[in-house]
Amino acid sequence: MKWIIGNWKMFKTRTEALNDWKSLNDLTQALKGKIRVSVAVPAPYLSECAQMRLNPVTLFSQNCHFADQGAYTGEWSARMLTHLNCAGSLVAHSERRQYFGENNGSAGKRTASLLRNGLRAVLCVGENWNERQAGRVDAVLNAQIREAFAAGGIAAKDCVSADPAFPLLSIAYEPVWAIGTGKSATAVEAQAAHATIRKILQDTLGKSVAQNLPVLYGGSVNGQNVTSFMQCADIDGALVGGASLEPKAFTDLIQKCV
Ligand code: PGA
Repeated sequence: MKWIIGNWKMFKTRTEALNDWKSLNDLTQALKGKIRVSVAVPAPYLSECAQMRLNPVTLFSQNCHFADQGAYTGEWSARMLTHLNCAGSLVAHSERRQYFGENNGSAGKRTASLLRNGLRAVLCVGENWNERQAGRVDAVLNAQIREAFAAGGIAAKDCVSADPAFPLLSIAYEPVWAIGTGKSATAVEAQAAHATIRKILQDTLGKSVAQNLPVLYGGSVNGQNVTSFMQCADIDGALVGGASLEPKAFTDLIQKCV
């Protein structure tokens, strides 16, 4: 089953967020059981969205700290997210790496904290334009994933969920040059990177976990290009920013992945 995650980033007023959360859940009722849908909502709105107790869309955070609690002003923990009916969180989105100093080490520790609390972690990786031009895509992906796993002490047993076909850990491949730029990778470029990621996961976590672990593509995914990505062997879904903001258009995009 494919998995589509919307990322609302730092957009929407409170009223817009609550209305759109309700609309998206209404609009996707008919897709229940056919596709997984989640939205990473801005942190100040998580609690109210959770209290609406809607389905089928599952609630995601855009970030969380690696400690369960502590003197970390401005942060929130995975343990806190468990009280909000959150399914999980994005980790180390490229905007976090670019503007807030996140690195592979903190990414691994944040991921580990989510898994330890029984939540889903979507670890974001991807090369920038210079790295792609220099032919370093595989090297960058290897470093990002292996260093994160080492820092967080992440092993196959940590990824186990109640559903063996849907492990707690996922990877989002988001080439930095394709995010918010309108310039997506081609399906061939994306599949090549996803195959590399699958191989790294096999080497680090073993074959049975690696083959079920969702690897999502992100970076200027829209209603026009989404099907080309979903047809690729190693692409299990998409992480969608700009095109997830409007519920009806996002539902049309989701429908195309069923
Ligand atoms: P975009 O964002 O779809 O607007 O490129 C993707 C993301 O940042 O996750």
